[in-house]
Amino acid sequence: MNQILIVYWSGTGNTAAMAGMVAEGIKEAGKEPVILLAEDASAGDLAACQAVALGCPSMGDEILEESVMEPFVEEAEKMVSGKTIGLFGSYGWGDGQWMRDWADRMKQAGAVVLGAEDAICCGAPDSGAEEALKELGRQLAEV
Ligand SMILES: Cc1cc2nc3c(=O)[nH]c(=O)nc-3n(C[C@H](O)[C@H](O)[C@H](O)COP(=O)(O)O)c2cc1C
Repeated sequence: MNQILIVYWSGTGNTAAMAGMVAEGIKEAGKEPVILLAEDASAGDLAACQAVALGCPSMGDEILEESVMEPFVEEAEKMVSGKTIGLFGSYGWGDGQWMRDWADRMKQAGAVVLGAEDAICCGAPDSGAEEALKELGRQLAEV
């Protein structure tokens, strides 16, 4: 498939900026990124995708955003077996526990997980995070 879907939720823009960097990597690898806000997406959008990127910051107490992203991920878990899922997101003061838990969930659901703790950053993405996020995009484009 020539298009790679990126679905994300972001409250203050950090994870949104990260989504743009994943998209850059996808473009560098010759595929077309399609970015969707989680509120505009449904898990059914993943059905035709072999590889997809999902982004969400650490919210609550080391959990996914509860009103939009958590329900989306619950639905996605039913259909990601065999797919490659690139996870990314921003955090503030924690140590990445929300991302370890998220990656475990997707692996339990049968997905191959890329990115995850390699694609998180504290606050806004810096140049190191940018390179990791572009690399995630390139990896997804090669699936
Ligand atoms: C309600 C709320 C809960 C949060 N909970 C956590 C948390 O448990 N652990 C953490 O590291 N950061 C936490 N943060 C910080 C955010 O993850 C951080 O500000 C992040 O950069 C926000 O990304 P965004 O700009 O994409 O929304 C929380 C922020 C808010 C607003």
